[in-house]
Amino acid sequence: MLDHSSVVTRLRAAGCVFAEDEAELLISTARTPEELDAMVARRAEGLPLEHVLGWAGFAGVRVAVDPGVFVPRRRTEFLVEQAVALAPEGAVVVDLCCGSGALGVALVAGITGAELHAADVDPAAVECARRNVAAAGGRAYQGDLFAALPDGLRGRVDVLLANVPYVPSEEIELLPSEARVHEARVALDGGSDGLDVLRRVTAEAAHWLAPGGLLFFETSERQVPLAVAAVTEGGLVPRVATCEERYATVVVARRPAQAG
Ligand SMILES: C[S@@+](CC[C@H](N)C(=O)[O-])C[C@H]1O[C@@H](n2cnc3c(N)ncnc32)[C@H](O)[C@@H]1O
Repeated sequence: MLDHSSVVTRLRAAGCVFAEDEAELLISTARTPEELDAMVARRAEGLPLEHVLGWAGFAGVRVAVDPGVFVPRRRTEFLVEQAVALAPEGAVVVDLCCGSGALGVALVAGITGAELHAADVDPAAVECARRNVAAAGGRAYQGDLFAALPDGLRGRVDVLLANVPYVPSEEIELLPSEARVHEARVALDGGSDGLDVLRRVTAEAAHWLAPGGLLFFETSERQVPLAVAAVTEGGLVPRVATCEERYATVVVARRPAQAG
C-alpha cells in the first residue's frame, strides 16, 4: 500500500513541483488503496491534478471538474473577487462560457439571494456545470453564447461573467500539456488575436444586461487595448483591474443606466 512518502516520491519522479501538497490531496480523496494507486499513476502520466481528483478548490468553493473540462485557474479568483465586491444583493447572475461553472458558483456563494444561470457550448462542460450549479440553486444550459439562455433574461442580467477562451490560435501549441492535451480546444482557442469569442460577447452583452449591469471578463495585458475597444463598441463603459501577484487582468464593463 502506498504511504505518503512513496506517493511524494512517485509524484516527484514524474516532475510534479508541488508533490507534497498533491500527495495530501490524492490521499484524502482516494477511497481505497487501489484507487490511490490508480490516481497517482494518472497524475504521473500528466493528467491535471483536478481531473485526477475530480474536483477543484476555487475562490472558497469546491466544484466537480470532469475529464476534458477546463480547470478553473487560481488567477481567475481575482475576477470573482471583483464581481463579489460589486454585485448587488439578489443579483441575476449569468456565467457564460461557464466550463465547470466555478465562477458563478463562487460568486453566488459570496452574495445573498442571487439567481444563477450558466451556459456553455461544450456538452461535457454543461454536464459538469449542471451538477455544480444545481447545488448552488441555479440552472445550466447548452448552446452557443447567449443563444443558450432563456429569452426572459434579456435586459435583466445584473452580473455577466464571461471567462471566454482568449489564447490566440497560434499560441495554443505553446501551452503546457496539461491544458493543450487535457482540456478541450474550444475552451482555449480565441481565434487569430484571441479576441474572437470576446467580440461576440461584447457585441450582444448590452441587450442582456440590466441598466447599470456589469460584464466581467479576463484578458491578457497585451490584449487590453483591443478588448477595451470591443467593449466600447458594444455600448459599455470599461474599467481595467489588475492583480500583479496573480498575473491577472480583468475588464469590468458597465451598461450605462440610460442605454436602450
Ligand atoms: C477558458 S474556458 C473558461 C471556463 C470557466 N469559465 C472557467 O473559468 O473555469 C472557456 C469556456 O468557454 C466555452 N466556450 C467556447 N466557445 C463558446 C461558445 N461559442 N459558446 C459558449 N461557450 C463557449 C468552452 O467550452 C469553455 O468551457
